[in-house]
Amino acid sequence: MNTKRLSAALEKALSEQMNVELYQSHVYLSYGIWASDEGYDGIGNFLFRHSLEERNHAIKFMEYILNRGGKPTVTALKAADKDPKNLKECFDRVFKHEVENTEKIYNLVNIAFEEKDWATWNFLQWFVKEQIEEETLAMDLIDKLKIAGGNEASDESLFNLDKYLGQAPDDAELARDATSEKP
Ligand code: FEO
Repeated sequence: MNTKRLSAALEKALSEQMNVELYQSHVYLSYGIWASDEGYDGIGNFLFRHSLEERNHAIKFMEYILNRGGKPTVTALKAADKDPKNLKECFDRVFKHEVENTEKIYNLVNIAFEEKDWATWNFLQWFVKEQIEEETLAMDLIDKLKIAGGNEASDESLFNLDKYLGQAPDDAELARDATSEKP
C-alpha cells in the first residue's frame, strides 16, 4: 500500500529546501570562520550559533518529509561565498541570503496552497514566522554596525559590538509579541 502523503512535486521541493538550509548553514559557518580569523570572536560565535540553527532547519524538513512517507535526498552543496571584504559586506550578505531564503519558503507555501496540501501548508507556517525573525536579526546586525560607525567605526566601538554579538540572543523579538509595556 502506498502510504506516501506528499505529492512527488512537494517531496522534491521540500527535499531541495532541506539542502538549501544545509547550504545556509555552510554560509554562516564560512562567515563565522572569516570573522574569527579577523579577530571578531564574538561575531564569529554569533555566526557559528546561527550555522547550527540553519542545520536544525534542515533537520525539520528532513523529519517532515520522512513523517509524511517520503524520502529526502542529500545533494552536493555548492561552495560558500568568497570571504567578505569587511563587516558591512558580511552583514549585507547575511540579509540577502535570508531574503532569498524567505522567497524560497514562500514558493513552497504557494505549491502547498495550489495542491491544497494543508498539512504541508501548516508545517511551512513555522518557517514563514521564522523568516520574519531571521530577517529582523539580519537587519539588526546592519543597524548595529551602522550605529557603531560602519566601515569607519572606531576600534573601541567594534570591540563593543563584537562583545555584544558574542552574547546576543539568537532570536529577534517579533511584532506579534510586542505590548504597550514592552514595545
Ligand atoms: Fe533557515 Fe536563515 O533561514
